[in-house]
Amino acid sequence: MNVEPLTPVIGAEVHGLDLATLDEAKFAEVEAALLDHQVLFFRDQEMDIDQHKALGRLFGPLHIHPSAPPGAPGHPEILKVHADENTKRTAGDGWHSDVSCDPEPPMLSILKLHTLPCGGGGDTLFSSMYAAYDALSSAMQTYLAGLTAIHDGGPNYRDRNRRIGFDDSDRVYPRAEHPVIRRHPRTGRKGIYVNSVFTTELCGVPKAEGEAILAFLYAHIARPQFQCRFRWRENSVAMWDNRCVQHMAMWDYYPETRSGLRVTVRGDRPFH
Ligand code: SIN
Repeated sequence: MNVEPLTPVIGAEVHGLDLATLDEAKFAEVEAALLDHQVLFFRDQEMDIDQHKALGRLFGPLHIHPSAPPGAPGHPEILKVHADENTKRTAGDGWHSDVSCDPEPPMLSILKLHTLPCGGGGDTLFSSMYAAYDALSSAMQTYLAGLTAIHDGGPNYRDRNRRIGFDDSDRVYPRAEHPVIRRHPRTGRKGIYVNSVFTTELCGVPKAEGEAILAFLYAHIARPQFQCRFRWRENSVAMWDNRCVQHMAMWDYYPETRSGLRVTVRGDRPFH
């Protein structure tokens, strides 16, 4: 297995590995590379749904999405990622960490795309929340250190469902209070943990102050120096650590089709 960094800050492409047949030794190498690079990319992976789920389970129990239907019949742990000519809004088109509204948000997501737009496009951008945190002034780091924020699934999921005409008025979506700066449980590094898709307010500060700080942080985490950008091919796989990475999917290919499946691994309650 050969790990080729995409940037010094975030992302690496892994060569010479079949994700469908990972043994324990290879798994340990992948996990170590993930902790180092935060998001890993793999090409030409043939794994089927069961192998995809088995890969996720090497990291931990699988997560079931609180809003999306099963991505394949009989597989509630599979999330379908799909956009075509009928799409009103794509999933993941703003900077976010997956399902951060859960009290114990997913630690890892593994996305495999099988259909790509003919004319290019549909890249995914990833931003290192470690690098974004490290680039803050020490005064701002101190200010944010003890703060928490509300993450609410309702606004995002209800907006998406409204656009496709799905009545979700009887549903209750997850909502949680998380530290604004979270410490990664494995690396001990600190990263920013608020995002524009799920975070609705900063706790314990005046509303206008909270909105200004969140607006500053959203602009900050979107700076290109913290990012890498992945150009997908058929059967490419991306594996990202939601505890220290935010991502956004470019929807620049309408009305073309882009499609794939995601397995998501459950995580722990974030801590300062
Ligand atoms: C997501 O999992 O948020 C979607 C990512 C993508 O479609 O590239």
